[in-house]
Amino acid sequence: MKFAFIIDSIEKLDPTHDSSVAMMEAAQMLGYEVYITTIEQLSVVKGKAYAHLYPVTLKPVTLVDNHWVAEENWYLLGESAFLPLESCYSVFMRKDPPVNTPYLYATYILDLIDRQKTKVINSPQGIRSANEKMYALQFSSVIPETIVTQSKKVIADFLEEKEAIILKPLNGKAGEGILFLQQGDRNFNSLIEISTKQGQEPIMVQEYLPSAKEGDKRIILLNGKPIGAVNRIPTGKEFRGNMAVGGRVAQTNITERELTICATLAPKLKQDGLFFVGIDVIGGYLTEVNVTSPTGIREIDRLNNVNLGKEVILATEIENGE
Ligand SMILES: Nc1ncnc2c1ncn2[C@@H]1O[C@H](COP(=O)(O)OP(=O)(O)O)[C@@H](O)[C@H]1O
Ligand SMILES: [Mg+2]
Repeated sequence: MKFAFIIDSIEKLDPTHDSSVAMMEAAQMLGYEVYITTIEQLSVVKGKAYAHLYPVTLKPVTLVDNHWVAEENWYLLGESAFLPLESCYSVFMRKDPPVNTPYLYATYILDLIDRQKTKVINSPQGIRSANEKMYALQFSSVIPETIVTQSKKVIADFLEEKEAIILKPLNGKAGEGILFLQQGDRNFNSLIEISTKQGQEPIMVQEYLPSAKEGDKRIILLNGKPIGAVNRIPTGKEFRGNMAVGGRVAQTNITERELTICATLAPKLKQDGLFFVGIDVIGGYLTEVNVTSPTGIREIDRLNNVNLGKEVILATEIENGE
């Protein structure tokens, strides 16, 4: 049975870090034929979603001195075939943000897959309905005080009330464009202008949570249930905890408060077909809901001696009613 992954170009993936590779390895290990493709290689023919699918064989990473190590040629691609995606047992949409126009077009193509035949993760409608920053606004009881605006005045008033704030572009990832701003900052006007593209685009503005110094926790949810977590602690003078900007990963557990956050999200995530999700929690507050291509599996596997990729692939089998 075929398992297809829609990813960014494979040579850019880091097998020791990327969750997509962890899940591809797990699918291979469980006996699936693993195929990869990219959003540029999707088509619609006679009303059906097609893709140029490349069979891939992976050499799994190994743990050496508590670090994942990959072989130099860690993947081998075969000849591609142009096939309906419905010929696959499951399709994982794992393209990295930004969710731009080509990304959205890809989700419309994936809408054409018959869900009785093939499970699409995450649901294309779900991905469209869930901007990774704005989705959290639906859960006001568990988020820090947050506004979304392009108005300098509204942001200035918010900062007046708070000691410090965080500015976030609405389509960013991995810490990109995230800014810290304090009262009295002489760059206030300029930073708002840059961030809102001269008042043309709204941004998210959140009260600064000082507990961010202790870490930004990534919790992986599978069908609404938390299956693992890893803490990311800012290093040096950096205020952001993202791994991509040097955040140090540390083992952690899931607190009662965080279980409450997960339970608050679960019904909506299920309703939206958001099967594989990574939420970010700082000091007991939900700050982001990652639905496109959440990461963290490799780190959690290493620190907690588990195999989350395998759990995810096995869970798709239950979902598909086997
Ligand atoms: N409200 C906040 N208070 C303090 N730090 C924050 C806050 N929101 C985000 N951060 C910091 O910024 C980083 C990135 O924020 P996040 O909202 O997760 O966006 P993304 O990971 O998509 O870039 C986090 O890892 C955290 O260190
Ligand atoms: Mg984040």
